[in-house]
Amino acid sequence: MKTRVTEMLGIRYPIVCGGMMRVGRAKLAAAVSNAGGLGIMTALSLPTPDEVIKEVVLCRTMTDQPIAVNLTILPTITPVPYEDYARAIVASGVKIVETAGNNPQRVMPIFKEAGIKVIHKCTSIRHAKKAETLGCDIISIDGFECAGHVGEDDVPNMLLLPLAAEQLSVPFIASGALGNGRQLAAALALGADGINMGTRFLATQECWIHDNVKQAMVRGTELDTQIVFRRLRNSSRLFKNAITRELAALDADPTKTFEDMKHLASGSRSPAVFERGELDAGTWSSSGVMGLIHDVPTCAELIERIVADATEIIRKRLPAVVAD
Ligand SMILES: Cc1cc2nc3c(=O)[nH]c(=O)nc-3n(C[C@H](O)[C@H](O)[C@H](O)COP(=O)(O)O)c2cc1C
Repeated sequence: MKTRVTEMLGIRYPIVCGGMMRVGRAKLAAAVSNAGGLGIMTALSLPTPDEVIKEVVLCRTMTDQPIAVNLTILPTITPVPYEDYARAIVASGVKIVETAGNNPQRVMPIFKEAGIKVIHKCTSIRHAKKAETLGCDIISIDGFECAGHVGEDDVPNMLLLPLAAEQLSVPFIASGALGNGRQLAAALALGADGINMGTRFLATQECWIHDNVKQAMVRGTELDTQIVFRRLRNSSRLFKNAITRELAALDADPTKTFEDMKHLASGSRSPAVFERGELDAGTWSSSGVMGLIHDVPTCAELIERIVADATEIIRKRLPAVVAD
């Protein structure tokens, strides 16, 4: 497949595995990149900037294909030394970075000076346009369907993508509840130069998380997500479980503040979920693409299947629609 994104990034297929806190480690990134997509490690999954360099070195032992690191800039309880992480990413030698969360302005000079291509992920056209003016090379458009931070505008990709096609000059990729070949073909038709997936890659062989979580992705449907932290204007789409129900109840009670909720959403609960497979012990981001997840393939099987199905649609079904 050839799009502006495959050309710019030097990858075979326009499929990116988005940064995933605690999940996006070297093995998964290498598997995605070896399968022809772009694998991304998540910087803040590592406790220090030096550990990011080690993770990239480890990933390099598993693939010679392009790989990237995600740097998510969000308000945190403990301040994060973002510039130090950015410098470590440069030192690691990766040539592609995914930024997300807030405006990436503070780290852009560090990346641009090193000749790094920056993919900025955002949930609105106004943020996408801002990122374009800051020099971002590719925009990843996270529609309201996406896992994790959905923004506060609630505009889905069926509308965001054609708006991006009208208003952006740089290439963009579609992100949010994507997982199959039909959706890749549709994203390309809507003007995107590729797709980004998170939840679909949770249910792959090379993803290190507990099998219980992968099977929850297989069993889950398009209805099994819950948006929490709406009232705090930090809306996040999570896998619906006992904790997200509790969070939703607290969110609906105007007397409650983040202080009343933070123990439930704390990252310290994540080992119970991801390492021990206790599905009601914590929260994790997921999207309704669960309805389209029916198995736990290798990354190569998944990517080949998506590309084959999209190619078939583009070559056969769509031309037939306009045949004379
Ligand atoms: C478990 C999980 C953790 C995530 N953590 C991050 C993160 O730390 N930073 C980030 O930019 N995006 C994060 N995301 C969002 C993904 O990179 C991607 O944008 C999103 O998953 C796309 O929606 P989808 O899951 O429907 O494919 C996470 C997603 C998941 C599923």
